[in-house]
Amino acid sequence: MEVIDILREVSKKIYENVKDLSGTEEAAGDFGIGAGGDISRNIDIIAEKTVLDYLKEINFECTVLGEECGRVELSDNPKGFLIMDAIDGSANSVRGVPFFCSSLAFATDYKLSSITDGVITNLSTGDMYWASKENGAFFNNSKMHVHEKDPIYKIVGINTSGATPDLMKKLFPIFEQHNHTRHFGANALEMAMFAKGLMDVFIDLRKKIRIQDIAAGYLIVKEAGGIILDENFNSLDADLSYETRVSFVAASNKKILDEIFHDVKL
Ligand code: IPD
Ligand code: CA
Repeated sequence: MEVIDILREVSKKIYENVKDLSGTEEAAGDFGIGAGGDISRNIDIIAEKTVLDYLKEINFECTVLGEECGRVELSDNPKGFLIMDAIDGSANSVRGVPFFCSSLAFATDYKLSSITDGVITNLSTGDMYWASKENGAFFNNSKMHVHEKDPIYKIVGINTSGATPDLMKKLFPIFEQHNHTRHFGANALEMAMFAKGLMDVFIDLRKKIRIQDIAAGYLIVKEAGGIILDENFNSLDADLSYETRVSFVAASNKKILDEIFHDVKL
């Protein structure tokens, strides 16, 4: 089985196991602080267990880097790293806001740029966004691409959750100049929707996002023809450690990026 097929198959299993849980008391159970530093909720644990059980069942030789479970060695001879955010948008999922997903990626080395496969599944609908390196990006069974035409108005996805007053001040020209800013609360799913052309940029400059939240989206954005840069507008790359936090801007193209950041001084 190809790696991408494994990720797609296990994503479907997560969807089956959690799709009726969102907003329920069962989803909310508190399991203390996970490896990523947030409280692990029951729905997170159920989703992660689904992945770990399946990988063990098919004897997939890898090192799992899970947001809640931490590093799990599934072999003495791992082929690479499976970067798992089994539920991205946990707060939404627990409250019943229908915007949360799973994000799974596979990397051959300990860095973002070595990711070869990524799958993001909308756990409210079952829709799947996925990509393998140099093979393009897909929404379910159709090829997908970032928005290419010059938009009449731009949809600017921007993660403002817990942003500092200083950052909000720096970003103010964006809010002032664009009437269609959006923030939905599940970073991976927002990256996937950006990659499908639903937004013109997706920005997260808080320096808070973890590797698990961006790994699959990083490849999917690139394979959909988008660019993904760090806060200095250089190509984004980072190691896969639990301490790593990044900022990024994803854009359909350089022209749109320049238009959005025209009056912004970071
Ligand atoms: C969170 C979501 C959210 C972002 C947070 C992340 P989680 O992931 O992606 O959109 O603002 O920084 O922690 O905790 O739900 O997996
Ligand atoms: Ca999570």
